Amino acid sequence: MATMADSTALSLEFLRVVEQAAIACAHTMGQGDRHHSDQVAVEAMRKVMDTVPIDGTIVIGEGERDEAPMLYIGEKVGMAAAAGAKAPAGLPKIDIAVDPLEGTNLCATGSNNAIAVLAASDEGGLLHAPDVYMEKLVVGPSSKGKVSLDAPVAENLQAIAASLSRAIEDLVVVVLDRPRHEQLIADIRASGARIRLIGDGDLSAGITAAVVGSGVHAVMGTGGAPEGVLTAAAMRCLGGEIYARLVVTKPEHEARCRAMGITDTKRIYTSKDLAPGKSIIFAATGVTDGVIMKGVRFFGDGIRTSSIIMQNDPHQIRFVDSIHVHDGDVKVRF
Ligand code: FBP
Repeated sequence: MATMADSTALSLEFLRVVEQAAIACAHTMGQGDRHHSDQVAVEAMRKVMDTVPIDGTIVIGEGERDEAPMLYIGEKVGMAAAAGAKAPAGLPKIDIAVDPLEGTNLCATGSNNAIAVLAASDEGGLLHAPDVYMEKLVVGPSSKGKVSLDAPVAENLQAIAASLSRAIEDLVVVVLDRPRHEQLIADIRASGARIRLIGDGDLSAGITAAVVGSGVHAVMGTGGAPEGVLTAAAMRCLGGEIYARLVVTKPEHEARCRAMGITDTKRIYTSKDLAPGKSIIFAATGVTDGVIMKGVRFFGDGIRTSSIIMQNDPHQIRFVDSIHVHDGDVKVRF
């Protein structure tokens, strides 16, 4: 982004974007229709994005242009695209990774940890990752540089425990509850560490692992690559680390990687590789309740949202509790 001041101003603009996406889909919580929840979040995010003073490009979004009507990869967004010739001159060129509703099932079932999220950077600052799986190991700042994606699970847990001055038995590792993680779960159990199995949402779990005092010390296992890039952007701001490798098992995966300019599909990425931008902004709003953010609360004359908005340049992390007031009087509550 052009200057540091721009970054601070822009982060508040992006806060509006994730807040409105979260509010929109929170109305659908528990309705049992994950596609509808996602669609509502996408539409709200896209609409507010048009009011952000940027010349933006979606680099991680809802899929290719022919599969997604909006927020598709390559779509131009922001004021420059919306206002065309009438847009102010010199709007900054920004790459954006979005997940308007991370944890569509979580929202559809009213379960914890659904969030609306985006990351932004200067042009080229976020890896254009294909929508394939990615092996991930996410740790907080104390364990950064002390673990390896190729090390045995017990060795990594020993290193994490040592960096946190505690026993392996005191660790909590989050793992997506999937059949593909049977061996991983067995290995973690054998080491003595505790496990929190989650139905969805390894991105919000990754953020939690990088926040001291959250009660989560690592995230292990395979999830979506786009979520991996968003996690990396969060780690650039939080000082934690993600170690990641694309899971490329079919020729069609290879072709998708090549189309995105990725030739070394065996590479182990860190947050600096996945989100290399000099200036990174990360914004997320809770849709349903989570450890770090509460879900959206509706109270008749207003709406309350809980968000995290972070940037690395200048380095700033804000937990934002907003009350969105409808017309008329509002009673502010705790
Ligand atoms: P959605 O937001 O698309 O529902 O994805 C949620 C999620 O659980 C991610 O957090 C995770 O990275 C990925 O899906 C795992 O994929 P799968 O459900 O195929 O195991």
